[in-house]
Amino acid sequence: MEGEKPFIEVLLSEEALQARIRELGRQITDDYAGQPLLVIGILKGSAVFLSDLIRAIDLPLDYDFVAISSYGADTRSSGIVRLLKDLDTSIEGRHVLIVEDIVDTGWTLRLSYLAENMKARKAASVKVCALLDKPSRRQVDVGIDYCGFVIDDVFVVGYGLDYEGRYRNLRYVGVVKPGPGQA
Ligand code: IMP
Ligand code: MG
Repeated sequence: MEGEKPFIEVLLSEEALQARIRELGRQITDDYAGQPLLVIGILKGSAVFLSDLIRAIDLPLDYDFVAISSYGADTRSSGIVRLLKDLDTSIEGRHVLIVEDIVDTGWTLRLSYLAENMKARKAASVKVCALLDKPSRRQVDVGIDYCGFVIDDVFVVGYGLDYEGRYRNLRYVGVVKPGPGQA
């Protein structure tokens, strides 16, 4: 995409995202039946989704973040990731909902989630909510309890997702296409 300005083809419109998030919020609200929830976002991509999702959930809740980073080489092929920021809050006895923007190979979720780790820290329960799922790219098994949309193997941006640090602020999810455009 050097030289030419890319343009973004809309994959999931703002309306489609917001409608699905309202559904997810209702489902989560029903499933937890009034129990308090600790929502844990994986930085940075999930921040936009998390901020809309929590406002669609009618439960007493708090949220926290963890951050994951790659070790040098391409995370997507190497699967080498490390925990950059741990939780500030204790999860003991709490119902934890991990929120991720997109599950691709599954490595990021595997590390942050560390179901074993969360259980060792005595969470009452641990579930996962991902806005997007790209199952064709999966390398490690991760359970997704609440999924917004299943998508094909395309690189998407917007609504928190970036391409080289750009496009996170788009209100929709789109696919970056090379060629003329003003994006
Ligand atoms: P995984 O560790 O391979 O599952 O990748 C998850 C992380 O990779 C996400 O949190 C995103 O930050 C990034 N990622 C994966 N696919 C995409 C994409 O299509 N667009 C933007 N970021 C992506
Ligand atoms: Mg991310």
